[in-house]
Amino acid sequence: MKSLAIIGAQWGDEGKGKITDLLSLKSDVVVRYQGGNNAGHTIIVKDKKVVLHLIPSGILHDHCTSIIGHGVVFDPEAFKKELEDIKKSGITVNPEKLKISGNCSVITMFNKLLDHNRENKGPIKIGTTGKGIGPAYEDKISRKGIKLKDLLDYDILLQKLSANLIEKECLFKNLYDCEYPSAKEEADRLFELGKLVAPFVTDTFSFLDQARKEDRKILFEGAQGILLDIDYGSYPFVTSSNTSFGGIFTGAGMPGGNVDEVLGITKAYTTRVGEGPFPTELFSELGEHIQNKGNEFGATTGRKRRCGWLDLPLLKYAVKSSNLTSIALTKLDVLCDIEGLKICTKYIYRGEELDCAYPGIDLSEVEPVLEDVEMFKDDFKSELSNELNTYIKRIEDELGIPVGILAYGPERSEIKFLKDFLN
Ligand code: GDP
Ligand code: IMO
Ligand code: MG
Repeated sequence: MKSLAIIGAQWGDEGKGKITDLLSLKSDVVVRYQGGNNAGHTIIVKDKKVVLHLIPSGILHDHCTSIIGHGVVFDPEAFKKELEDIKKSGITVNPEKLKISGNCSVITMFNKLLDHNRENKGPIKIGTTGKGIGPAYEDKISRKGIKLKDLLDYDILLQKLSANLIEKECLFKNLYDCEYPSAKEEADRLFELGKLVAPFVTDTFSFLDQARKEDRKILFEGAQGILLDIDYGSYPFVTSSNTSFGGIFTGAGMPGGNVDEVLGITKAYTTRVGEGPFPTELFSELGEHIQNKGNEFGATTGRKRRCGWLDLPLLKYAVKSSNLTSIALTKLDVLCDIEGLKICTKYIYRGEELDCAYPGIDLSEVEPVLEDVEMFKDDFKSELSNELNTYIKRIEDELGIPVGILAYGPERSEIKFLKDFLN
């Protein structure tokens, strides 16, 4: 196996960072291809915690080249801070180890201001991370975007920002009544930051093409999760990129090749941050208990994550919409010893039984059908209990793909591989 994709199979925060970190040990190249610093990927090594937002999780390994592909929306200021933070953790970052596409779309101050104003003053609250992600993708799609390579030429940058500001200025002045920088102030700020980013700017598409020709092992690190996908997710409560498998081909390129294995990461239960429907959400003390035990706080915004039972109709949908070939089941330790353990096997939706979700389904209308599951009490050091084996087997049978990884703690070592990857 020469290439592997890691995709969040739920609403994000499934433990992608930890799995990417471990599989980076066997990879030559690790690629981020969508999203931006709305992501928060946590890696815990002994007593050290590293949270990566924009930089691929492969950066922890000196033998890996980390790539930020052109599908990522790039905030140069957030990059500067992340670079400083990870260097403080003793991690080496240099242009040999990290390569960034000059074709990434830049998140400007205008994008961040729009995100904040819409969330605080607009008619619908999505509960975004406030990082300017949606507005930056809007600029890209409407062909007004600033590309990273534009930061290297002041005149072009000023010209593009001036054009970009014309429509937004009407919103800032007339709708949101807020302060905003002039095009010149923003050009000055971004041009300065561009000097820091310049040494990392590379033609990452050709780099990947060459890596594939040389049979190097490539790992694609998805951000967010399939239910936050702009096309497959619980729209409008989604992010603005293709978080599913398809995002790899538009956001990084895999010229002339396919991806050998697509590993979907799912918690043994479900969580969600931000607004939007959540069929198996627990509003009881038990939900709070899982939230506390799992330390379910967002790695980017610190917000509490909502918690609920594992939702098989959503996972089946994730398998279909991203061609998942196996599953990593994380946070099993949190679900240990939980009395009244349940799993959602079906929905009742507009009078019909459904065992798999589909694009456009209104999740706020579904009634989850919950089944009781036998509680497991594993310490994960000895053999798995019959109860846990039954829980895993049930998931495999329903999804039709194997569970290849079990994670039972935040530490690197708290993991069991049931299957070989990247061999
Ligand atoms: P990501 O965005 O998918 O990379 O996930 P996050 O880092 O946002 O959130 C996952 C959280 O769970 C982090 O705090 C991890 O350290 C932690 N974690 C990962 N796997 C496990 C696990 O198996 N058990 C427990 N208890 N924590 C885990
Ligand atoms: P990782 O990669 C969980 C959610 C936000 C909000 C919605 C839109 O760590 O799994 P945005 O700022 O993207 O416009 O917000 O998406 N969201 C995430 N939730 N994990 C993430 O990333 C997320 N990135 C965005 O909470 O509901
Ligand atoms: Mg996260």
